[in-house]
Amino acid sequence: MSKQSPSTDTQFMDKLVSLCKRRGFVFQSSEIYGGLNGAWDYGPLGVELLRNIKEAWWKDMTHRQNIEGLDAAILMHPRVWEASGHVENFTDPMVDCKQCKARYRVDELLNGLSIKKQKEILRQIDESYARLNDVEIAALFSQLPEADPRSILKLINCPNCGNKGTFTEARKFNLMFKTFVGPVEDSSAVVYLRPETAQGIFVNFLNVQGASRQKLPFGIAQIGKAFRNEINTKNFLFRTREFEQMEMQFFVKPGTDDQWFEYWREQRMNWFVRFGMPKEKLQWHQHEPGKLAHYAKNAYDIEFKFPFGWGEIEGIHNRTDFDLSRHEQYSGKGMKYFDEETKEKFTPYIIETSAGASRSFMAFLVNAYAEEEAPTAEGTMETRVVMKFHPKLAPIKVAVFPLVNRDGMPEIAHKIEEDLRTHLPVFYDDSGAVGRRYRRQDEIGTPYCITIDSQTLGDQTVTVRDRDTMVQERIASDRLVSYLMDRIYKF
Ligand code: GAP
Repeated sequence: MSKQSPSTDTQFMDKLVSLCKRRGFVFQSSEIYGGLNGAWDYGPLGVELLRNIKEAWWKDMTHRQNIEGLDAAILMHPRVWEASGHVENFTDPMVDCKQCKARYRVDELLNGLSIKKQKEILRQIDESYARLNDVEIAALFSQLPEADPRSILKLINCPNCGNKGTFTEARKFNLMFKTFVGPVEDSSAVVYLRPETAQGIFVNFLNVQGASRQKLPFGIAQIGKAFRNEINTKNFLFRTREFEQMEMQFFVKPGTDDQWFEYWREQRMNWFVRFGMPKEKLQWHQHEPGKLAHYAKNAYDIEFKFPFGWGEIEGIHNRTDFDLSRHEQYSGKGMKYFDEETKEKFTPYIIETSAGASRSFMAFLVNAYAEEEAPTAEGTMETRVVMKFHPKLAPIKVAVFPLVNRDGMPEIAHKIEEDLRTHLPVFYDDSGAVGRRYRRQDEIGTPYCITIDSQTLGDQTVTVRDRDTMVQERIASDRLVSYLMDRIYKF
């Protein structure tokens, strides 16, 4: 049995997106109206997979003595976003092509050029750049846009229409969606759709601490929607305008922050591995000191190897006392913690773990997808598509098939389905050859398929077929619940 991946990255993504639509994982938002860029709908299987990912994260985070849950409102007081720095800093430099009106993020436009093109451009700016090697060129090029995008932008062609030097001046574009509260649409009524869930946690720090009587160090976890008016949405669910985050803010005594930062880095990387991601498809990317977000002292991304390259799925940030200090300053309300034992009053440091639920969903989909050569009932070979989800994440856990629709098999199969349904999501399928039914379940990642056959009528045993090995075992039907629960929910 060989695991194959479709030959090119674009083919891979095409196949995945098409499977997602065909089997009900993900649909384009408002598809009948031509769709809306950067927004996606989760279908019957997608919503289950997404819930399972969120549930796995929620349990891992909140089934600890020192982490509390929260579900804060999406709309918050506009001063929150001034304090957080988002009004001032949450911007991307953007340009438009005057010719064809295509819009680009400057950094993506420039970093997307080939090394050859980058070399050529640098040479036109300064001949002395000619002696640099490729690595030096790439490094220099990634810094130049911030220093002087204009001189470079004049020298490059629009990727859409091919015209040279047709870009507008770069201008800052704030990524927060604005709306208004109440009937009057003036500046005093502006509110933002939150671009991250984190701020709801920061402003509730003392509410949660007081209500739960937690002592430092402790954390607050939250899952919820976030919105960013991204200039370019791309790569399916990777960069969207509406998405979900799973964030946890861990409040610690200053001086212990480096140690907790390392602790949470390890915890979070292990979580992805535990749910089936191989270590070689995950890597760390440390933010260079000059490129840290305005609030961060140290930051690492967990990156996953997507078909289009390595991409961030989670950020671990040491946010220092930036957030609580700023909210204290902007709200005029004390945000300090009083340590009963030492009688000290101080502003805690925050270690943040910030995962995208939607982006993780996509990473789990990519990771699960496999094409394998498998034998047919006729003894020939065929390619089967199989989603190798971790059993806990799989949307359907078990499928039940009567071999034929007579001789009392459907009645037994329905009884087994009913018994299992109180414990697990079950799918009943009685149409077509059993081989076809297996393939349909493989394609949506169902870990186990149960077949009721003529032997069942005599000895009440059924076959249980494992999705990954395709091996079948005979099990007494009254042992099914414990057999499946052990395998699906163990560890
Ligand atoms: N509170 C910190 C914060 O929001 P971030 O690195 O901007 O940090 C955290 O975002 C995670 O949210 C990312 O690792 C990614 O998984 C997800 N994310 C961010 N922007 C996204 C977008 N436009 N579409 C989908 N997921 C996104």
